[in-house]
Amino acid sequence: MWLCLAALVGLYFLLRWYRERQVVSHLRDKYVFITGCDSGFGNLLARQLDLRGLRVLAACLTEEGAQQLRGQMSDRLETVILDVTKTESISAATQWVRERVGDRGLWGMVNNAGIFHPHCYIEWLKMETYMEVFKVNLIGLIELTLSMLPLVRRARGRIVNVSSILGRIASFGGIYCSSKYGVEAFSDILRRELQHFGVKISIVEPGYFRTGMTELQRCLEKLKQAWEEVPEHVKEAYGQKFFDAHYNGVKQELLKCSTNLNLVTDCMEHALTSVYPRTRYSAGWDSQFFFIPLSYLPTSLSDYILTRSWPKPAQAV
Ligand SMILES: NC(=O)c1ccc[n+]([C@@H]2O[C@H](COP(=O)([O-])OP(=O)(O)OC[C@H]3O[C@@H](n4cnc5c(N)ncnc54)[C@H](OP(=O)(O)O)[C@@H]3O)[C@@H](O)[C@H]2O)c1
Repeated sequence: MWLCLAALVGLYFLLRWYRERQVVSHLRDKYVFITGCDSGFGNLLARQLDLRGLRVLAACLTEEGAQQLRGQMSDRLETVILDVTKTESISAATQWVRERVGDRGLWGMVNNAGIFHPHCYIEWLKMETYMEVFKVNLIGLIELTLSMLPLVRRARGRIVNVSSILGRIASFGGIYCSSKYGVEAFSDILRRELQHFGVKISIVEPGYFRTGMTELQRCLEKLKQAWEEVPEHVKEAYGQKFFDAHYNGVKQELLKCSTNLNLVTDCMEHALTSVYPRTRYSAGWDSQFFFIPLSYLPTSLSDYILTRSWPKPAQAV
């Protein structure tokens, strides 16, 4: 009986492997637009797809980032400046893409741009920070998707939305998790609504990786600065000892970030080039072997596992 079960599971994985390795044709004629290409996953994906021969339209936040990318890659890769929080910038980028893709439409769109707030507790952050994170991670993603959708629909193409494993299980970083849960919900509905147009939507959920967003010194400085600006009554509730322990905890976590960014960009590439892309890609060992199993546990158990090593606030009851 166990042998039979193992054979069935083996057969399932074999069939899945065979199905997923089928690649779409004419990749060299296909345009892919990627946001947030100045650094991190976006930058690596732009270079990876350019080497694979696709026509990459890379959106960078800064001219410096765009120049650097152009200098490293083939003439086929083109760049545009895009701030996803600005409607005019989105309209201009859409027009720029339309001029390039013409009647064939846009094959792939990767919503990758994103920001993290300082690694703080919910009470420590100002409302402006909440708005900033939402504007980039969720509102910007939605506005850009709506703007580019007619082009993607024309090509019966793909949309790849970069969420996070924190969009599957909210383990820390209240506002960031909320924005990524929004990305997951938006993408799920989009997938269901667009299935009849032949447009496929994939969600990529990376674990912890070392990029601009998780750069150690920058993150620790932002954390310290945020703590300095916390109102006095909140500081008293948590206490300096709590902050110091939290600071060290964050430092240890950041030091564990994976440096193998290909684990993420390979998922993105697969979503854009496979005949049968997956709906969700959980990228990284921490995602697959810790956070995903954790997300299926009863809430009380996952709460215990996630918070058992957290320090206690000064005014804890
Ligand atoms: N690193 C991780 O551990 C991790 C884990 C899960 C999910 N993610 C997600 O992966 C995606 C890429 O992040 P990353 O890790 O590669 O970090 P990153 O290196 O900081 O890349 C983020 C990119 O977004 C750009 N950006 C920031 N604000 C923007 C705006 N308003 N408009 C357009 N672009 C903007 C940044 O430009 P500048 O460099 O010029 O600021 C940067 O190029 C994000 O959606 C992030 O939430 C990352």
